[in-house]
Amino acid sequence: MCGIVGFIGKNAKTQIIDCLKKLEYRGYDSSGLALINNKDKIEIIKETGFISNIENLSNNMFDDLEIGIGHTRWATTGKVTKENAHPHVSNNGRFAIVHNGIIENYEAIKSDLSHKGYTFSSETDSEVVAILLEENAKTAKSVIENIKLTTKILEGSFSLAILDTHSPDKIFATKKDMPLFVSAGADFASIASAVVGLPHDAIQYIMLENHDIAEISLNTIKVWQNEEMVDRRVQKITKDDLNHTMHNHKHYMIKEIFEEQVALEKTAEAFSSLKPSAKKEILDLFASHKRIHLVACGTAYHACLVGASLLESIGFDCSCHIASEFKYFPPNLNDKCLCIFVSQSGETADTIGCLKLVQEKGIKCLSITNVESSTIAHISDHLLMTKAGTEVAVASTKAYNCQCLIFYLLTQAISKNNQVISIKNLKIDKILQTINQISKLSQIIATFKKVFFIGRGLDSLTAKEGSLKLKEITYIPSESYPAGELKHGTLSLVDDESLSIVILTQKSTIHKTMNAVSEIKARGGFTLVVTPFDEIQPNHEIDYVFHLPILKNEQHYPLISIIPLQLFAYFTSIEKGINPDKPRNLAKSVTVE
Ligand code: G6P
Repeated sequence: MCGIVGFIGKNAKTQIIDCLKKLEYRGYDSSGLALINNKDKIEIIKETGFISNIENLSNNMFDDLEIGIGHTRWATTGKVTKENAHPHVSNNGRFAIVHNGIIENYEAIKSDLSHKGYTFSSETDSEVVAILLEENAKTAKSVIENIKLTTKILEGSFSLAILDTHSPDKIFATKKDMPLFVSAGADFASIASAVVGLPHDAIQYIMLENHDIAEISLNTIKVWQNEEMVDRRVQKITKDDLNHTMHNHKHYMIKEIFEEQVALEKTAEAFSSLKPSAKKEILDLFASHKRIHLVACGTAYHACLVGASLLESIGFDCSCHIASEFKYFPPNLNDKCLCIFVSQSGETADTIGCLKLVQEKGIKCLSITNVESSTIAHISDHLLMTKAGTEVAVASTKAYNCQCLIFYLLTQAISKNNQVISIKNLKIDKILQTINQISKLSQIIATFKKVFFIGRGLDSLTAKEGSLKLKEITYIPSESYPAGELKHGTLSLVDDESLSIVILTQKSTIHKTMNAVSEIKARGGFTLVVTPFDEIQPNHEIDYVFHLPILKNEQHYPLISIIPLQLFAYFTSIEKGINPDKPRNLAKSVTVE
Protein backbone atom coordinates (compact mmCIF):
# COMPACT_ATOMS: atom_id res chain seq x y z
CA MET A 1 0.00 0.00 0.00
CA CYS A 2 2.56 2.48 -0.70
CA GLY A 3 2.50 5.12 -3.38
CA ILE A 4 5.11 5.24 -6.14
CA VAL A 5 5.84 7.93 -8.69
CA GLY A 6 8.38 8.65 -11.41
CA PHE A 7 8.97 11.85 -13.35
CA ILE A 8 11.09 12.95 -16.30
CA GLY A 9 11.22 16.66 -17.12
CA LYS A 10 12.13 20.02 -15.59
CA ASN A 11 11.86 20.40 -11.78
CA ALA A 12 11.74 16.64 -11.38
CA LYS A 13 12.34 16.78 -7.62
CA THR A 14 9.49 19.23 -6.98
CA GLN A 15 7.17 17.36 -9.29
CA ILE A 16 7.93 14.04 -7.59
CA ILE A 17 7.29 15.54 -4.15
CA ASP A 18 4.02 17.15 -5.32
CA CYS A 19 2.84 13.89 -6.85
CA LEU A 20 3.88 11.91 -3.76
CA LYS A 21 1.84 14.26 -1.58
CA LYS A 22 -1.20 13.39 -3.65
CA LEU A 23 -0.51 9.70 -2.94
CA GLU A 24 0.20 10.21 0.76
CA TYR A 25 -3.24 8.70 1.54
CA ARG A 26 -1.71 5.34 0.50
CA GLY A 27 0.73 5.40 3.40
CA TYR A 28 2.68 8.04 5.24
CA ASP A 29 5.17 6.53 7.67
CA SER A 30 8.25 7.38 5.60
CA SER A 31 9.13 8.57 2.13
CA GLY A 32 12.04 8.99 -0.23
CA LEU A 33 13.23 9.85 -3.68
CA ALA A 34 16.05 8.94 -6.05
CA LEU A 35 17.30 11.24 -8.80
CA ILE A 36 19.94 10.71 -11.46
CA ASN A 37 22.54 13.50 -11.26
CA ASN A 38 24.54 15.11 -14.03
CA LYS A 39 27.30 12.53 -13.62
CA ASP A 40 24.80 9.70 -14.12
CA LYS A 41 24.95 8.73 -10.44
CA ILE A 42 21.98 8.13 -8.18
CA GLU A 43 21.21 10.65 -5.41
CA ILE A 44 18.93 9.46 -2.59
CA ILE A 45 16.95 11.33 0.02
CA LYS A 46 14.76 9.46 2.47
CA GLU A 47 13.31 10.00 5.92
CA THR A 48 10.68 8.71 8.29
CA GLY A 49 7.48 10.71 8.81
CA PHE A 50 5.44 12.75 6.37
CA ILE A 51 6.60 13.74 2.87
CA SER A 52 7.18 17.29 4.11
CA ASN A 53 10.30 15.85 5.83
CA ILE A 54 12.02 14.90 2.56
CA GLU A 55 10.79 18.16 1.09
CA ASN A 56 12.60 20.08 3.83
CA LEU A 57 15.69 17.87 3.64
CA SER A 58 16.04 18.40 -0.11
CA ASN A 59 15.39 22.13 -0.01
CA ASN A 60 17.67 23.92 -2.51
CA MET A 61 19.19 20.63 -3.63
CA PHE A 62 18.95 18.82 -6.96
CA ASP A 63 16.74 21.53 -8.47
CA ASP A 64 18.38 21.11 -11.90
CA LEU A 65 17.92 17.33 -12.14
CA GLU A 66 15.38 16.00 -14.60
CA ILE A 67 14.70 12.38 -13.79
CA GLY A 68 13.72 10.55 -10.65
CA ILE A 69 11.41 8.22 -8.74
CA GLY A 70 9.72 8.58 -5.34
CA HIS A 71 7.87 6.56 -2.74
CA THR A 72 5.56 7.04 0.23
CA ARG A 73 5.49 4.03 2.54
CA TRP A 74 3.01 2.13 4.71
CA ALA A 75 5.26 -0.40 6.41
CA THR A 76 4.57 -4.08 5.75
CA THR A 77 7.93 -5.85 5.89
CA GLY A 78 10.39 -4.07 8.18
CA LYS A 79 9.88 -1.39 10.80
CA VAL A 80 9.38 2.31 10.15
CA THR A 81 13.02 3.40 9.80
CA LYS A 82 15.00 5.55 7.42
CA GLU A 83 16.88 2.44 6.19
CA ASN A 84 13.63 0.71 5.33
CA ALA A 85 12.23 3.72 3.47
CA HIS A 86 12.41 3.46 -0.33
CA PRO A 87 14.13 3.91 -2.80
CA HIS A 88 16.47 0.94 -2.46
CA VAL A 89 19.73 0.84 -4.40
CA SER A 90 21.74 -2.09 -5.75
CA ASN A 91 25.18 -2.73 -4.19
CA ASN A 92 26.98 -1.29 -7.20
CA GLY A 93 24.78 1.82 -7.22
CA ARG A 94 23.53 1.14 -10.76
CA PHE A 95 19.83 0.50 -10.00
CA ALA A 96 17.37 2.28 -7.72
CA ILE A 97 13.87 0.97 -7.24
CA VAL A 98 10.61 1.90 -5.53
CA HIS A 99 8.09 -0.85 -4.85
CA ASN A 100 4.43 -1.16 -3.93
CA GLY A 101 3.22 -4.65 -2.96
CA ILE A 102 4.70 -7.64 -1.17
CA ILE A 103 7.49 -9.96 -2.36
CA GLU A 104 6.41 -13.16 -0.63
CA ASN A 105 9.58 -15.17 -1.35
CA TYR A 106 12.00 -12.38 -0.43
CA GLU A 107 13.68 -14.36 2.36
CA ALA A 108 14.74 -17.14 -0.02
CA ILE A 109 15.95 -14.60 -2.60
CA LYS A 110 17.82 -12.66 0.06
CA SER A 111 19.56 -15.74 1.34
CA ASP A 112 20.55 -16.78 -2.18
CA LEU A 113 21.90 -13.28 -2.97
CA SER A 114 23.73 -13.13 0.38
CA HIS A 115 25.52 -16.38 -0.50
CA LYS A 116 26.63 -14.71 -3.70
CA GLY A 117 28.21 -11.95 -1.61
CA TYR A 118 25.61 -9.19 -1.84
CA THR A 119 24.81 -7.12 1.23
CA PHE A 120 21.53 -5.63 2.38
CA SER A 121 20.96 -2.41 4.23
CA SER A 122 17.25 -2.76 5.04
CA GLU A 123 14.81 -5.28 6.52
CA THR A 124 12.42 -4.87 3.59
CA ASP A 125 11.27 -7.37 1.03
CA SER A 126 11.68 -4.69 -1.66
CA GLU A 127 15.46 -4.34 -1.49
CA VAL A 128 15.93 -7.77 -3.10
CA VAL A 129 14.59 -6.35 -6.36
CA ALA A 130 17.39 -3.79 -6.66
CA ILE A 131 20.01 -6.45 -5.95
CA LEU A 132 18.44 -9.03 -8.25
CA LEU A 133 18.61 -6.44 -11.04
CA GLU A 134 22.33 -6.06 -10.39
CA GLU A 135 22.83 -9.84 -10.44
CA ASN A 136 20.73 -10.40 -13.57
CA ALA A 137 22.46 -7.54 -15.39
CA LYS A 138 25.44 -9.92 -15.66
CA THR A 139 23.57 -12.13 -18.14
CA ALA A 140 20.70 -10.06 -19.54
CA LYS A 141 21.19 -8.50 -22.95
CA SER A 142 19.04 -5.46 -22.19
CA VAL A 143 17.35 -3.78 -19.24
CA ILE A 144 14.01 -5.03 -20.50
CA GLU A 145 15.31 -8.61 -20.46
CA ASN A 146 16.80 -8.01 -17.03
CA ILE A 147 13.47 -6.78 -15.65
CA LYS A 148 11.76 -9.78 -17.16
CA LEU A 149 14.28 -12.20 -15.60
CA THR A 150 14.06 -10.41 -12.26
CA THR A 151 10.28 -10.23 -12.00
CA LYS A 152 9.99 -13.88 -13.02
CA ILE A 153 11.74 -14.76 -9.75
CA LEU A 154 9.39 -12.63 -7.63
CA GLU A 155 6.35 -14.19 -5.95
CA GLY A 156 3.62 -11.93 -4.64
CA SER A 157 2.54 -8.58 -5.95
CA PHE A 158 4.42 -5.56 -7.17
CA SER A 159 4.42 -2.33 -9.01
CA LEU A 160 7.96 -1.13 -9.58
CA ALA A 161 9.64 1.98 -10.88
CA ILE A 162 13.31 1.47 -11.73
CA LEU A 163 16.21 3.81 -12.46
CA ASP A 164 19.22 2.38 -14.28
CA THR A 165 22.26 4.66 -14.47
CA HIS A 166 23.23 2.98 -17.77
CA SER A 167 20.03 4.47 -19.26
CA PRO A 168 20.09 7.80 -17.44
CA ASP A 169 17.25 9.39 -19.40
CA LYS A 170 14.72 6.60 -18.82
CA ILE A 171 12.50 5.18 -16.13
CA PHE A 172 11.43 1.54 -16.35
CA ALA A 173 8.24 0.28 -14.79
CA THR A 174 6.41 -3.00 -14.40
CA LYS A 175 3.59 -4.43 -12.34
CA LYS A 176 1.73 -7.49 -11.14
CA ASP A 177 -1.54 -7.17 -9.20
CA MET A 178 -0.77 -3.58 -8.16
CA PRO A 179 -1.93 -0.55 -10.14
CA LEU A 180 0.42 1.57 -12.22
CA PHE A 181 -0.38 4.43 -14.61
CA VAL A 182 1.87 6.11 -17.15
CA SER A 183 1.36 9.53 -18.70
CA ALA A 184 3.35 11.65 -21.16
CA GLY A 185 2.79 15.35 -21.87
CA ALA A 186 4.47 17.90 -24.13
CA ASP A 187 7.49 18.26 -21.86
CA PHE A 188 7.26 15.52 -19.28
CA ALA A 189 6.69 11.81 -18.74
CA SER A 190 5.49 10.33 -15.49
CA ILE A 191 4.23 7.26 -13.68
CA ALA A 192 2.12 6.88 -10.55
CA SER A 193 0.26 4.30 -8.48
CA ALA A 194 -3.00 6.16 -9.08
CA VAL A 195 -4.23 8.62 -11.67
CA VAL A 196 -4.53 11.26 -8.96
CA GLY A 197 -0.75 10.97 -8.45
CA LEU A 198 0.06 12.08 -12.01
CA PRO A 199 1.22 15.70 -12.55
CA HIS A 200 -1.40 18.46 -12.78
CA ASP A 201 -0.58 18.94 -16.48
CA ALA A 202 -1.32 15.33 -17.37
CA ILE A 203 -4.31 15.04 -19.68
CA GLN A 204 -4.25 11.35 -20.50
CA TYR A 205 -2.83 8.10 -19.21
CA ILE A 206 -2.42 4.42 -19.92
CA MET A 207 -3.00 1.74 -17.34
CA LEU A 208 -0.33 -0.97 -17.37
CA GLU A 209 -1.44 -4.61 -17.47
CA ASN A 210 0.14 -7.34 -15.37
CA HIS A 211 3.70 -8.16 -16.55
CA ASP A 212 3.85 -5.18 -18.90
CA ILE A 213 7.30 -3.60 -18.93
CA ALA A 214 7.26 0.11 -19.74
CA GLU A 215 10.27 2.09 -20.94
CA ILE A 216 9.52 5.72 -20.31
CA SER A 217 11.47 8.61 -21.74
CA LEU A 218 10.56 12.21 -22.47
CA ASN A 219 7.58 12.06 -24.88
CA THR A 220 7.89 8.35 -25.59
CA ILE A 221 6.37 5.42 -23.79
CA LYS A 222 7.11 1.93 -25.00
CA VAL A 223 5.31 -1.04 -23.47
CA TRP A 224 6.40 -4.66 -23.86
CA GLN A 225 4.45 -7.78 -23.02
CA ASN A 226 6.29 -11.06 -23.68
CA GLU A 227 8.93 -9.45 -25.91
CA GLU A 228 6.23 -7.89 -28.10
CA MET A 229 5.67 -4.17 -28.14
CA VAL A 230 1.99 -3.51 -27.32
CA ASP A 231 -0.42 -0.58 -27.51
CA ARG A 232 -2.38 0.14 -24.36
CA ARG A 233 -5.63 2.12 -24.43
CA VAL A 234 -5.05 5.83 -23.89
CA GLN A 235 -7.64 7.25 -21.50
CA LYS A 236 -8.54 10.86 -20.77
CA ILE A 237 -8.03 12.33 -17.34
CA THR A 238 -11.12 14.07 -16.00
CA LYS A 239 -11.14 17.07 -13.67
CA ASP A 240 -12.45 14.79 -10.90
CA ASP A 241 -9.44 12.45 -11.29
CA LEU A 242 -7.05 15.21 -10.24
CA ASN A 243 -9.30 17.05 -7.76
CA HIS A 244 -6.95 17.19 -4.83
CA THR A 245 -7.30 20.50 -3.07
CA MET A 246 -8.74 21.32 0.33
CA HIS A 247 -10.17 24.67 -0.81
CA ASN A 248 -10.92 26.59 2.38
CA HIS A 249 -11.23 23.60 4.65
CA LYS A 250 -8.68 22.65 7.29
CA HIS A 251 -8.77 18.96 6.46
CA TYR A 252 -9.83 16.75 3.59
CA MET A 253 -12.22 14.88 5.86
CA ILE A 254 -14.39 17.91 6.65
CA LYS A 255 -14.22 19.03 3.02
CA GLU A 256 -15.40 15.59 1.95
CA ILE A 257 -18.28 15.60 4.45
CA PHE A 258 -19.38 18.97 3.08
CA GLU A 259 -19.28 17.48 -0.44
CA GLU A 260 -21.76 14.74 0.43
CA GLN A 261 -24.83 16.47 -1.00
CA VAL A 262 -23.14 17.06 -4.37
CA ALA A 263 -21.62 13.57 -4.38
CA LEU A 264 -25.05 12.03 -3.84
CA GLU A 265 -26.58 14.22 -6.56
CA LYS A 266 -23.86 13.22 -9.03
CA THR A 267 -24.24 9.54 -8.14
CA ALA A 268 -28.01 9.69 -8.61
CA GLU A 269 -27.55 11.55 -11.89
CA ALA A 270 -25.03 8.99 -13.20
CA PHE A 271 -27.36 6.14 -12.27
CA SER A 272 -30.32 7.70 -14.01
CA SER A 273 -28.20 8.46 -17.09
CA LEU A 274 -27.08 4.85 -17.51
CA LYS A 275 -27.61 3.70 -21.07
CA PRO A 276 -30.86 1.67 -21.26
CA SER A 277 -28.87 -1.36 -22.45
CA ALA A 278 -26.43 -1.12 -19.49
CA LYS A 279 -29.29 -0.68 -17.03
CA LYS A 280 -31.15 -3.62 -18.54
CA GLU A 281 -28.06 -5.83 -18.24
CA ILE A 282 -27.80 -5.04 -14.54
CA LEU A 283 -31.51 -5.45 -13.86
CA ASP A 284 -31.45 -8.78 -15.73
CA LEU A 285 -28.77 -9.96 -13.30
CA PHE A 286 -31.16 -9.38 -10.42
CA ALA A 287 -34.05 -10.91 -12.34
CA SER A 288 -32.11 -14.13 -12.80
CA HIS A 289 -30.39 -14.39 -9.39
CA LYS A 290 -32.21 -14.37 -6.08
CA ARG A 291 -29.21 -15.36 -3.93
CA ILE A 292 -26.77 -12.49 -3.44
CA HIS A 293 -23.39 -12.32 -1.73
CA LEU A 294 -22.07 -8.85 -0.94
CA VAL A 295 -18.33 -8.57 -0.34
CA ALA A 296 -16.20 -5.64 0.88
CA CYS A 297 -13.91 -4.30 3.63
CA GLY A 298 -14.22 -1.56 6.24
CA THR A 299 -16.69 1.19 5.47
CA ALA A 300 -17.66 -0.38 2.15
CA TYR A 301 -18.68 -3.52 4.11
CA HIS A 302 -21.01 -1.38 6.19
CA ALA A 303 -22.56 -0.03 2.97
CA CYS A 304 -23.08 -3.68 1.95
CA LEU A 305 -25.00 -4.27 5.20
CA VAL A 306 -27.35 -1.42 4.28
CA GLY A 307 -27.57 -2.75 0.71
CA ALA A 308 -28.38 -6.28 1.88
CA SER A 309 -31.11 -4.98 4.15
CA LEU A 310 -32.70 -3.06 1.25
CA LEU A 311 -32.42 -5.97 -1.18
CA GLU A 312 -33.85 -8.36 1.44
CA SER A 313 -36.81 -6.01 1.78
CA ILE A 314 -37.70 -6.66 -1.88
CA GLY A 315 -37.32 -10.41 -1.71
CA PHE A 316 -33.63 -11.24 -2.23
CA ASP A 317 -31.73 -13.65 -0.08
CA CYS A 318 -28.52 -11.80 0.90
CA SER A 319 -25.34 -12.47 2.87
CA CYS A 320 -22.62 -9.92 3.55
CA HIS A 321 -18.98 -10.97 3.78
CA ILE A 322 -15.79 -9.32 4.91
CA ALA A 323 -13.49 -9.84 1.94
CA SER A 324 -10.50 -11.17 3.91
CA GLU A 325 -12.74 -13.93 5.29
CA PHE A 326 -14.63 -14.66 2.07
CA LYS A 327 -11.49 -15.45 0.10
CA TYR A 328 -10.30 -18.19 2.42
CA PHE A 329 -13.66 -19.36 3.83
CA PRO A 330 -16.04 -18.83 0.91
CA PRO A 331 -19.73 -19.66 1.19
CA ASN A 332 -21.36 -22.21 -1.04
CA LEU A 333 -20.97 -20.54 -4.43
CA ASN A 334 -22.77 -21.67 -7.54
CA ASP A 335 -24.17 -20.19 -10.72
CA LYS A 336 -27.41 -19.29 -8.95
CA CYS A 337 -25.52 -16.67 -6.92
CA LEU A 338 -24.78 -13.10 -7.85
CA CYS A 339 -21.76 -11.53 -6.12
CA ILE A 340 -21.59 -7.79 -5.49
CA PHE A 341 -18.24 -6.18 -4.65
CA VAL A 342 -18.10 -2.70 -3.14
CA SER A 343 -14.90 -0.68 -2.91
CA GLN A 344 -14.31 3.06 -2.88
CA SER A 345 -10.77 2.81 -4.22
CA GLY A 346 -11.30 -0.26 -6.38
CA GLU A 347 -7.79 -1.31 -5.28
CA THR A 348 -8.35 -3.15 -1.99
CA ALA A 349 -6.36 -6.37 -2.30
CA ASP A 350 -8.74 -8.46 -0.18
CA THR A 351 -11.72 -7.44 -2.30
CA ILE A 352 -9.85 -7.93 -5.59
CA GLY A 353 -8.78 -11.41 -4.42
CA CYS A 354 -12.45 -12.37 -3.86
CA LEU A 355 -13.55 -10.92 -7.18
CA LYS A 356 -10.95 -13.03 -8.99
CA LEU A 357 -11.91 -16.13 -7.05
CA VAL A 358 -15.55 -15.71 -7.97
CA GLN A 359 -14.71 -14.99 -11.61
CA GLU A 360 -12.66 -18.19 -11.77
CA LYS A 361 -15.80 -20.08 -10.73
CA GLY A 362 -17.75 -18.46 -13.58
CA ILE A 363 -20.10 -16.65 -11.18
CA LYS A 364 -21.63 -13.33 -12.21
CA CYS A 365 -20.16 -10.24 -10.54
CA LEU A 366 -21.30 -6.68 -10.17
CA SER A 367 -18.93 -4.12 -8.68
CA ILE A 368 -19.65 -0.73 -7.17
CA THR A 369 -16.63 1.54 -7.07
CA ASN A 370 -15.67 5.20 -7.04
CA VAL A 371 -12.54 5.08 -9.21
CA GLU A 372 -13.02 4.42 -12.89
CA SER A 373 -9.32 3.75 -13.48
CA SER A 374 -9.14 1.14 -10.69
CA THR A 375 -8.40 -2.56 -10.94
CA ILE A 376 -11.90 -3.51 -9.79
CA ALA A 377 -13.51 -1.26 -12.42
CA HIS A 378 -11.15 -2.77 -15.00
CA ILE A 379 -11.78 -6.46 -14.29
CA SER A 380 -15.45 -6.54 -13.22
CA ASP A 381 -18.14 -8.08 -15.44
CA HIS A 382 -20.64 -5.37 -14.52
CA LEU A 383 -19.99 -2.01 -12.97
CA LEU A 384 -21.89 0.74 -11.20
CA MET A 385 -19.98 3.90 -10.40
CA THR A 386 -20.42 6.10 -7.37
CA LYS A 387 -19.60 9.70 -8.24
CA ALA A 388 -18.24 10.83 -4.90
CA GLY A 389 -15.19 12.42 -6.53
CA THR A 390 -11.68 11.93 -5.16
CA GLU A 391 -11.72 10.90 -1.51
CA VAL A 392 -8.41 11.64 0.21
CA ALA A 393 -9.04 11.41 3.98
CA VAL A 394 -8.32 7.93 5.32
CA ALA A 395 -11.73 7.79 6.99
CA SER A 396 -14.23 7.25 4.19
CA THR A 397 -17.26 9.57 4.37
CA LYS A 398 -18.87 10.75 1.14
CA ALA A 399 -18.09 7.45 -0.60
CA TYR A 400 -20.12 5.60 2.06
CA ASN A 401 -23.31 7.63 1.51
CA CYS A 402 -22.88 7.20 -2.24
CA GLN A 403 -22.42 3.42 -1.94
CA CYS A 404 -25.58 3.24 0.17
CA LEU A 405 -27.38 5.42 -2.38
CA ILE A 406 -26.52 3.00 -5.19
CA PHE A 407 -28.32 0.27 -3.24
CA TYR A 408 -31.36 2.52 -2.76
CA LEU A 409 -31.40 3.31 -6.48
CA LEU A 410 -30.93 -0.33 -7.43
CA THR A 411 -33.71 -1.44 -5.10
CA GLN A 412 -36.05 1.19 -6.55
CA ALA A 413 -35.17 0.20 -10.11
CA ILE A 414 -35.55 -3.53 -9.46
CA SER A 415 -38.90 -3.11 -7.74
CA LYS A 416 -40.03 -0.67 -10.46
CA ASN A 417 -40.75 1.93 -7.83
CA ASN A 418 -41.16 5.22 -9.67
CA GLN A 419 -40.65 7.33 -6.56
CA VAL A 420 -37.02 8.16 -7.21
CA ILE A 421 -35.18 9.30 -4.11
CA SER A 422 -34.73 13.08 -3.98
CA ILE A 423 -31.35 14.13 -2.61
CA LYS A 424 -32.65 17.60 -1.78
CA ASN A 425 -35.34 16.08 0.43
CA LEU A 426 -32.63 14.43 2.55
CA LYS A 427 -32.06 17.90 4.09
CA ILE A 428 -28.29 17.45 4.43
CA ASP A 429 -27.84 21.23 4.57
CA LYS A 430 -29.89 21.29 7.81
CA ILE A 431 -27.37 18.93 9.46
CA LEU A 432 -24.42 20.98 8.25
CA GLN A 433 -26.00 24.11 9.74
CA THR A 434 -25.73 22.51 13.22
CA ILE A 435 -21.95 22.23 13.03
CA ASN A 436 -21.44 24.31 16.20
CA GLN A 437 -23.69 22.04 18.22
CA ILE A 438 -21.89 18.99 16.83
CA SER A 439 -18.53 20.49 17.66
CA LYS A 440 -19.64 21.18 21.27
CA LEU A 441 -20.98 17.65 21.66
CA SER A 442 -17.65 16.37 20.32
CA GLN A 443 -15.81 18.19 23.13
CA ILE A 444 -17.91 16.08 25.50
CA ILE A 445 -17.33 12.86 23.52
CA ALA A 446 -13.57 13.45 23.74
CA THR A 447 -13.74 13.17 27.56
CA PHE A 448 -14.97 9.55 27.54
CA LYS A 449 -12.71 6.50 27.80
CA LYS A 450 -15.01 4.29 25.68
CA VAL A 451 -17.93 4.96 23.38
CA PHE A 452 -20.62 2.48 22.34
CA PHE A 453 -22.92 2.94 19.37
CA ILE A 454 -26.29 1.21 19.45
CA GLY A 455 -29.44 1.10 17.37
CA ARG A 456 -31.99 -1.35 15.99
CA GLY A 457 -32.60 -2.49 12.42
CA LEU A 458 -31.19 -0.01 9.90
CA ASP A 459 -29.93 2.11 12.83
CA SER A 460 -27.75 -0.76 14.05
CA LEU A 461 -25.94 -0.60 10.68
CA THR A 462 -25.36 3.15 10.95
CA ALA A 463 -24.11 2.50 14.49
CA LYS A 464 -21.43 0.17 13.10
CA GLU A 465 -20.14 2.79 10.68
CA GLY A 466 -20.32 5.53 13.32
CA SER A 467 -18.23 3.43 15.68
CA LEU A 468 -15.64 2.65 13.00
CA LYS A 469 -15.31 6.37 12.16
CA LEU A 470 -14.80 7.30 15.80
CA LYS A 471 -12.16 4.67 16.59
CA GLU A 472 -10.29 5.20 13.31
CA ILE A 473 -9.50 8.85 13.92
CA THR A 474 -9.87 9.48 17.68
CA TYR A 475 -8.30 6.25 19.05
CA ILE A 476 -11.15 6.03 21.60
CA PRO A 477 -12.02 2.35 22.03
CA SER A 478 -15.45 1.91 20.53
CA GLU A 479 -17.85 -0.90 19.70
CA SER A 480 -21.29 -1.04 18.19
CA TYR A 481 -24.19 -3.35 18.98
CA PRO A 482 -27.78 -3.85 18.00
CA ALA A 483 -29.46 -2.16 20.99
CA GLY A 484 -31.12 -5.37 22.19
CA GLU A 485 -27.82 -7.24 22.25
CA LEU A 486 -26.20 -4.91 24.76
CA LYS A 487 -27.64 -6.79 27.72
CA HIS A 488 -26.09 -10.04 26.45
CA GLY A 489 -22.55 -8.98 27.21
CA THR A 490 -21.42 -5.45 26.50
CA LEU A 491 -23.47 -3.99 29.34
CA SER A 492 -20.72 -5.25 31.66
CA LEU A 493 -18.45 -2.57 30.13
CA VAL A 494 -20.91 0.26 30.80
CA ASP A 495 -19.87 2.56 33.63
CA ASP A 496 -19.57 6.28 34.29
CA GLU A 497 -16.55 6.51 31.96
CA SER A 498 -18.58 5.31 29.00
CA LEU A 499 -20.84 7.12 26.56
CA SER A 500 -23.45 5.28 24.51
CA ILE A 501 -24.49 6.99 21.28
CA VAL A 502 -27.97 5.78 20.41
CA ILE A 503 -29.20 6.03 16.82
CA LEU A 504 -32.98 6.10 16.79
CA THR A 505 -34.69 6.91 13.49
CA GLN A 506 -37.27 4.13 13.10
CA LYS A 507 -40.56 4.87 14.85
CA SER A 508 -41.41 1.24 15.56
CA THR A 509 -38.18 0.84 17.56
CA ILE A 510 -38.56 3.82 19.92
CA HIS A 511 -39.95 1.89 22.86
CA LYS A 512 -37.46 -0.99 22.84
CA THR A 513 -34.48 1.24 22.11
CA MET A 514 -35.40 3.45 25.03
CA ASN A 515 -35.36 0.32 27.22
CA ALA A 516 -31.68 -0.04 26.34
CA VAL A 517 -31.13 3.63 27.27
CA SER A 518 -32.70 2.94 30.69
CA GLU A 519 -30.45 -0.10 31.17
CA ILE A 520 -27.38 1.99 30.37
CA LYS A 521 -28.44 4.80 32.72
CA ALA A 522 -29.11 2.30 35.51
CA ARG A 523 -25.40 1.29 35.25
CA GLY A 524 -24.14 4.88 35.45
CA GLY A 525 -23.39 5.23 31.71
CA PHE A 526 -23.93 8.44 29.76
CA THR A 527 -26.21 8.61 26.72
CA LEU A 528 -26.44 10.72 23.58
CA VAL A 529 -29.42 10.07 21.32
CA VAL A 530 -29.33 10.92 17.60
CA THR A 531 -32.92 11.06 16.40
CA PRO A 532 -35.41 13.02 14.31
CA PHE A 533 -38.16 12.61 16.94
CA ASP A 534 -39.03 15.89 18.65
CA GLU A 535 -40.53 14.20 21.66
CA ILE A 536 -37.10 12.83 22.55
CA GLN A 537 -35.43 15.48 24.69
CA PRO A 538 -32.78 15.39 27.42
CA ASN A 539 -34.19 13.97 30.64
CA HIS A 540 -33.05 11.91 33.64
CA GLU A 541 -32.05 9.05 31.28
CA ILE A 542 -30.92 10.95 28.19
CA ASP A 543 -27.93 13.21 28.77
CA TYR A 544 -27.64 14.69 25.28
CA VAL A 545 -29.76 14.74 22.13
CA PHE A 546 -28.88 15.58 18.56
CA HIS A 547 -31.91 16.13 16.36
CA LEU A 548 -31.84 14.99 12.73
CA PRO A 549 -34.11 16.61 10.17
CA ILE A 550 -37.43 14.83 9.69
CA LEU A 551 -37.59 12.72 6.52
CA LYS A 552 -40.81 11.58 4.85
CA ASN A 553 -39.46 8.07 4.29
CA GLU A 554 -37.95 6.44 7.39
CA GLN A 555 -36.06 3.96 5.22
CA HIS A 556 -33.86 6.80 3.91
CA TYR A 557 -32.32 7.69 7.29
CA PRO A 558 -29.08 5.68 6.80
CA LEU A 559 -28.17 8.18 4.07
CA ILE A 560 -28.11 11.04 6.57
CA SER A 561 -27.97 9.70 10.14
CA ILE A 562 -24.31 8.83 9.50
CA ILE A 563 -23.42 12.50 8.85
CA PRO A 564 -23.50 13.73 12.48
CA LEU A 565 -21.54 10.60 13.45
CA GLN A 566 -18.86 11.39 10.86
CA LEU A 567 -18.77 14.93 12.21
CA PHE A 568 -18.55 13.72 15.83
CA ALA A 569 -15.52 11.64 14.82
CA TYR A 570 -13.96 14.58 12.99
CA PHE A 571 -14.38 17.16 15.77
CA THR A 572 -13.44 14.68 18.51
CA SER A 573 -10.25 13.93 16.60
CA ILE A 574 -9.48 17.67 16.41
CA GLU A 575 -10.29 18.04 20.11
CA LYS A 576 -7.72 15.31 20.89
CA GLY A 577 -5.06 16.98 18.74
CA ILE A 578 -5.03 14.21 16.11
CA ASN A 579 -4.78 14.85 12.36
CA PRO A 580 -8.07 13.27 11.21
CA ASP A 581 -6.82 12.89 7.64
CA LYS A 582 -3.86 10.72 8.65
CA PRO A 583 -4.66 8.52 11.64
CA ARG A 584 -1.79 6.41 12.98
CA ASN A 585 -1.17 2.96 11.52
CA LEU A 586 -3.81 3.23 8.80
CA ALA A 587 -3.84 3.88 5.08
CA LYS A 588 -6.66 4.65 2.73
CA SER A 589 -5.95 2.17 0.01
CA VAL A 590 -5.04 -1.24 1.41
CA THR A 591 -3.38 -3.00 -1.47
CA VAL A 592 -1.92 -5.89 0.52
CA GLU A 593 -3.81 -8.86 1.95
C1 G6P B 1 -9.16 1.01 4.32
C2 G6P B 1 -9.70 2.40 4.58
C3 G6P B 1 -11.19 2.34 4.89
C4 G6P B 1 -11.92 1.62 3.76
C5 G6P B 1 -11.34 0.23 3.52
C6 G6P B 1 -11.93 -0.40 2.25
O1 G6P B 1 -9.15 0.28 5.49
O2 G6P B 1 -9.00 3.01 5.64
O3 G6P B 1 -11.70 3.66 5.01
O4 G6P B 1 -13.27 1.52 4.10
O5 G6P B 1 -9.93 0.32 3.32
O6 G6P B 1 -11.53 0.39 1.16
P1 G6P B 1 -12.22 0.38 -0.24
O7 G6P B 1 -11.42 1.31 -1.07
O8 G6P B 1 -12.18 -1.03 -0.74
O9 G6P B 1 -13.63 0.86 -0.05
